[in-house]
Amino acid sequence: MKPFEGGKERPFMPPARPAGGRKKESRTIFKVGVWYIFVLGAFAAYTNWLPQYRGEAPPPPVEVNMEEASPEKLAGLGKMIVFGTDNPSTAGGTVPIGKGSCPLCHMFFTDQRADRCPALIGEEARSQNRPKEDRYKMFAARYVNGEPNSGIKPHAKPGGQYLIESEYCPNCYVVEGYGIKGSHDMESPMPIINKPPIQLTDNEIVAVVAYLQSKDTPEDSSKVTAKQDWEDYFGRRLTPAAPAPQGIPPSRPIAYAEDTPEQIVKKMGCFGCHKIPTVAIAKTGLIGPLLIEKTNAPHRLKSPEYRKALREGRAHARTPKEYVMESIMHPDAFIVPGFQDDMMKDFGKKFTFDALEKMADFLLTLDEETARKEGLDRLPQEKEGSLLTRS
Ligand code: HEC
Ligand code: HEC
Repeated sequence: MKPFEGGKERPFMPPARPAGGRKKESRTIFKVGVWYIFVLGAFAAYTNWLPQYRGEAPPPPVEVNMEEASPEKLAGLGKMIVFGTDNPSTAGGTVPIGKGSCPLCHMFFTDQRADRCPALIGEEARSQNRPKEDRYKMFAARYVNGEPNSGIKPHAKPGGQYLIESEYCPNCYVVEGYGIKGSHDMESPMPIINKPPIQLTDNEIVAVVAYLQSKDTPEDSSKVTAKQDWEDYFGRRLTPAAPAPQGIPPSRPIAYAEDTPEQIVKKMGCFGCHKIPTVAIAKTGLIGPLLIEKTNAPHRLKSPEYRKALREGRAHARTPKEYVMESIMHPDAFIVPGFQDDMMKDFGKKFTFDALEKMADFLLTLDEETARKEGLDRLPQEKEGSLLTRS
């Protein structure tokens, strides 16, 4: 990370204001001071933390001893991978998100607010029918020579194999209505789970599938066939405890300045919640506003709600760029009207300063026109109204 000082342009310096008398000027200087304290504070804490973090080995994959794991044990491990805890609370409509990232998109419980992707409730039963559908056969015919991103030829038979296949090859069957916009439901927005950024090991995927199989009928362990399903699907045995793959990014990745905005969106999971024009993977997010910050940021700064947050000392941005950076680092400084405080609060520790600037600059190039070109619209709860129906 580049140090905050240094000869280059200071991103947080508000533009010179027209001479407006002493009082106004000193107020501005005061505000700038506050802004610096706020940002420096966050980054000072961060600089202390980063080198230690870099020195750490990536968190090891969850150890799964395939020879010994009972169905219950396997499902329990899967639960840990999905939620990062064995006791996920749904307080406030959200659940914790573990290294598998699944709850970023999928709903696991009826009181969880997450309707942007097919709910994984009753999935074990549903999975049994998928391979029998004509739609599945259509995908199998389309990919007789292998699906291009994974090389996999769709060939799932029982439901468990379908669940395994879904993780390694989301495009091998795309649930109707949930494909990437413009792909006619032929391409899935779901990331390939054994590849970066999520990159679970084979054993971890088996555990996650075991969890899906046990979730709705925990008393019936005969449904937990994930290990057998994996071995039948791939025609080989699972290695008892796979060693950690080398050189993988940590499961708590960091955004660096060398990353493209698209890579940052992917690494950080922004796509799970936001639609972002020009970013191929970010077309389905339904939790946060459509990110067209060239349009939104100036508009927010002028809004009475933001002015109130400024007066109350919760928010500090003066320029659109400051606004976007603040939104990423301190999402609760200001909650966009119509939304909930759903964005995670730890991005301040996951971006280098230059990466944060890069992301803000990028988002500030996107406006209503960029979104309209791709047929992307605001969500119904956005007060500004639809981009597509308005002339
Ligand atoms: C970025 C959002 C996203 C993430 C993260 C994600 N999925 Fe998905 N998933 C989708 C979407 C969208 C679909 C529907 C399109 C399709 O069929 O691929 C889907 C489909 C599925 C299906 C098929 C559902 C059906 O009824 O046929 C399964 C199973 C599944 N996901 C499991 C998972 C698991 C397990 C994880 C975590 C390891 C996960 N997904 C992570 C978005 C996501
Ligand atoms: C778990 C869902 C979630 C994820 C993941 C997420 N956000 Fe958000 N984001 C939200 C919600 C909800 C809001 C609106 C509420 C608020 O203002 O905090 C929001 C607001 C924003 C805003 C303000 C938008 C505006 O028009 O005023 C920006 C900018 C933003 N997010 C950027 C990002 C970036 C960049 C990432 C990835 C690094 C990201 N978000 C990841 C949910 C999310």
